[in-house]
Amino acid sequence: MTSLPWFHKTTIYQIYPRSFYDSNGDGIGDLQGILQKLDYVQRLGFETLWISPFFASPQADFGYDISDYTSIAPEYGTMEDVIQLIEQVHRRGMKIVFDMVLNHTSIEHTWFKKSSSSREGTWMDWYIWRDRPNNWLSVPGGSGWHYAKERGQYFWASFLPFQPDLNYRNPQVKQAKLDNVRFWLDKGSDGFRLDIFNYIYKDAEFRDNPFSFSLLPTEDDPSGFFQQAIYTVNLPESFEFAREFRNVCDEYGEKLSIGEVSGGSSTIRKFLGENGSNGLTLVFDFGMLNFKFTADYFRDLIRDMEMQYPDPFMPVYVFSNHDRRRSMSRLGGDVRKARLLHMFQLTVRGVPVIYYGEEIGMTDAKFPFGTALDPIPHKYKFIPRFVFDALGLTINRDEVRTPMQWNGGRNAGFSSANQTWLAVHNNYGSTNVEVEEQDNNSLLNTIRSLLEIHRREIVLQQGSLELMDNLPESVLGYTRSIGNKKISILLNFDGRETKFDAQGKKCIFKLTSGSQWNGKTVRLDAYGAIILKQ
Ligand code: GLC
Repeated sequence: MTSLPWFHKTTIYQIYPRSFYDSNGDGIGDLQGILQKLDYVQRLGFETLWISPFFASPQADFGYDISDYTSIAPEYGTMEDVIQLIEQVHRRGMKIVFDMVLNHTSIEHTWFKKSSSSREGTWMDWYIWRDRPNNWLSVPGGSGWHYAKERGQYFWASFLPFQPDLNYRNPQVKQAKLDNVRFWLDKGSDGFRLDIFNYIYKDAEFRDNPFSFSLLPTEDDPSGFFQQAIYTVNLPESFEFAREFRNVCDEYGEKLSIGEVSGGSSTIRKFLGENGSNGLTLVFDFGMLNFKFTADYFRDLIRDMEMQYPDPFMPVYVFSNHDRRRSMSRLGGDVRKARLLHMFQLTVRGVPVIYYGEEIGMTDAKFPFGTALDPIPHKYKFIPRFVFDALGLTINRDEVRTPMQWNGGRNAGFSSANQTWLAVHNNYGSTNVEVEEQDNNSLLNTIRSLLEIHRREIVLQQGSLELMDNLPESVLGYTRSIGNKKISILLNFDGRETKFDAQGKKCIFKLTSGSQWNGKTVRLDAYGAIILKQ
């Protein structure tokens, strides 16, 4: 059997540096903070870290607006800290990937300052300039064209007005950005998470987007606000760029590249190329962020993922991030369901990506839009909150970015400051690492055990997947296998117990004490689950 590349069999933990651990008491998480908590992540058992941006930035979008890609925001630390972090991660046999924002810079970037000051000279078309806007709309809504007085023209910004899009049709721009990528690969980064990768190219002729009936963009369809986003998103040139990006990474060996993209699976899989070696190595397929907690939903999800991402591709399973609801909030705070969800995520065929705090079941905070630090809610503060809640939309992303809850002490052990950059969630007294460490059945310890099994059982990392038939309606079952090595996973998505026959040689994991197997019959209690070796 040939072994898969590491980036197809790893487990990923996402750290939002601002909220992970504050080492110097200024109320903001930092790189030394991550270093101090590396033992925690290692003991938990993740193999790869993805760190959200810590580069120089005015922090208008908390690091997704970068003013210098090769220096570090002082509140996070220094270049020495980054080098130390890379070394320490590698010393532990783990990998580290950075967050690369290719589509846009901050308006504070020197390239933009130069480009917006004159229509002539070297920098004149480093960004996307027009005398007159067309009908294109930005991701958060409203025209994405903004007037720059000094130059007397409009620039295009796919996201917020202070995040101008670079012009990749200018070969110098592409070169400069790929140089940024090489800079971090030279420093030892094991790859990148790629911010809104599918927006990089826009129509060269600036044709108006056609009308659409769709009101809001969704994970499966970036069209919205009554516009079909055909000239602004998922252009063939962006698929081609994925190939170029991969070539640069390949110069450095096996490097992970995971695209933040949106659109139907059959569209976004084009970012992976055709043969597993001529595109990005992974893409997020965000439809599953809106999961329904039923066996049927996850069965269909597996079918879909297996169809879209067969070998040599690999699906990604993700249920929350720094922009979306936390999975525990979606599950109504039911820890039994959270344990089952993560058991699914860590045993199905695919790379699991888990956002910090998910392992202890952190939930979304509720903050008023008017005082939000995130710029998005300010656009919508005139619409009553219940409208967004009813639509299940996270508008105020502060709510999913509250500090990590380490213990029941001051600021949940996140910081010694008088005030933290965002308030700690008020449930930190009972939801925190210290409390959960002591409880064998906690979500934290469940995830730790499952990660341990994932590292031990090569079948879980690399095996093919087959859905099992003839199970009770509430039960999802699948078998992972390589040659004659087989492992079956059986998960009960119902609050009532269920019994059925199942074959196996040995039970290697029970999610709940009421999950049993007597060599013939499986009994799963409420949200119970079991792993059988065949
Ligand atoms: C991505 C990031 C988000 C950021 C946006 C603009 O969606 O995940 O946090 O605001 O891109 O860079």
